[in-house]
Amino acid sequence: AGVFTYDPGFTSTASCDSTITYIDGEKGILTHRGYPIGQLAKDSHYLEVCYLLLYGELPSAAQLEEFETLVTRHTMIHEQMHNFFRGFRRDAHPMATMVGVVGAMSAFYHDSTDINDPHQREVASIRLIAKMPTIAAMAYKYSIGQPFVYPRNDLDYASNFLRMCFSVPAEEYEVNPILARAMDRIFTLHADHEQNASTSTVRLASSSGANPFACIAAGIACLWGPAHGGANQACLEMLREIGTPDRIPEFIARAKDRNDPFRLMGFGHRVYKNFDPRAKVMKESADEVLDLLGVENNPTLQVAKELERVALEDPYFAEKKLYPNVDFYSGIILDAMGFPTSMFTPIFALARTVGWVSQWKEQLADPQLKIGRPRQLYLGAAQRDYVDIENR
Ligand code: CMC
Repeated sequence: AGVFTYDPGFTSTASCDSTITYIDGEKGILTHRGYPIGQLAKDSHYLEVCYLLLYGELPSAAQLEEFETLVTRHTMIHEQMHNFFRGFRRDAHPMATMVGVVGAMSAFYHDSTDINDPHQREVASIRLIAKMPTIAAMAYKYSIGQPFVYPRNDLDYASNFLRMCFSVPAEEYEVNPILARAMDRIFTLHADHEQNASTSTVRLASSSGANPFACIAAGIACLWGPAHGGANQACLEMLREIGTPDRIPEFIARAKDRNDPFRLMGFGHRVYKNFDPRAKVMKESADEVLDLLGVENNPTLQVAKELERVALEDPYFAEKKLYPNVDFYSGIILDAMGFPTSMFTPIFALARTVGWVSQWKEQLADPQLKIGRPRQLYLGAAQRDYVDIENR
């Protein structure tokens, strides 16, 4: 009852209009500024897609070079920010550290609070895209007790990130170009996804005029949950828990049991009800990486392949239109590359930063911008009189 439409989970409410990303869940279509994700993931690369998302068109060669130089020039973080990292418990989850450090950047870049100045918006956008790999890698290094590795600006975005994660002072890390390409593809496939929970969180936070770094920190916090970005970590942990293919039927039965909260992580999607177009490309990428690393005998991978086969043949999953999503395959690739599961969601966060930033910029440029302020259906007590404590 009431004058408001109740739409739990916002399954049929459009919260904004947007020209950035289009999804047709029935047909399995995802486009950025009109370009299909499959083409972008195969023929383009992450920084070019960042440009496309931010400015609406593919860049010319000169525009791309200028953009890449700009991003590269901002990859360092201020030395004083190392203190923020050191304040965390030594074994902190890298997502916890990222929420804190990115939020703390709002205390560092006061200028960005002036969101009405287009120049400041631009600088904040570039800073976020450039510094996020450095921050994610530092959060990782801190969590394993290794020294921070500074960015190297002669490397491309993905190679630089891999090196900041895996290089140790005693031994220089040689970036394998196939792994760098796979990393770049993971970034590209996660770059934006219209009004998902974390993007909506960023927009809601920013609708009050808040500092952009604080808004992105809110997005990172929302992404962390296992129903959203945290699914990639949860999925690999589930595959490890299953352990061997003979235990798959037990877990499939649990996923189908209405009285058991267990779900197959990496399966299902709110919008895609046929297939996740990102998962298609990610699966190809997984095959490439696994071929290169020669991990056919990896037990996690064997469980993943068999689980995928069994679930796709099971009528429960077909009826409910549950297919492997992007996180099912990304976790397998990241695991093979040597990332611990705790880094899977930070990698998603760094890749999604450009989506958050593009949506934030679009929102601020919208002449219809209003503070986001949903209403509710009140189901509590009717008005009543206060009772003194001795009379209760
Ligand atoms: N395993 C088993 N059953 C499932 C699953 C699953 N993974 N996902 C949905 N269902 C069932 C669910 O129990 C429900 O059954 P019933 O109609 O009998 O109550 C039905 O399918 C519909 O589920 P829902 O929760 O109403 O659907 P939703 O659109 O609210 O949820 C989802 C979408 C992605 C949160 C959900 O499918 C899920 O929890 N999947 C596992 C987590 C996951 O992989 N998340 C990553 C999504 S892709 C990347 C990202 O967005 O970050």
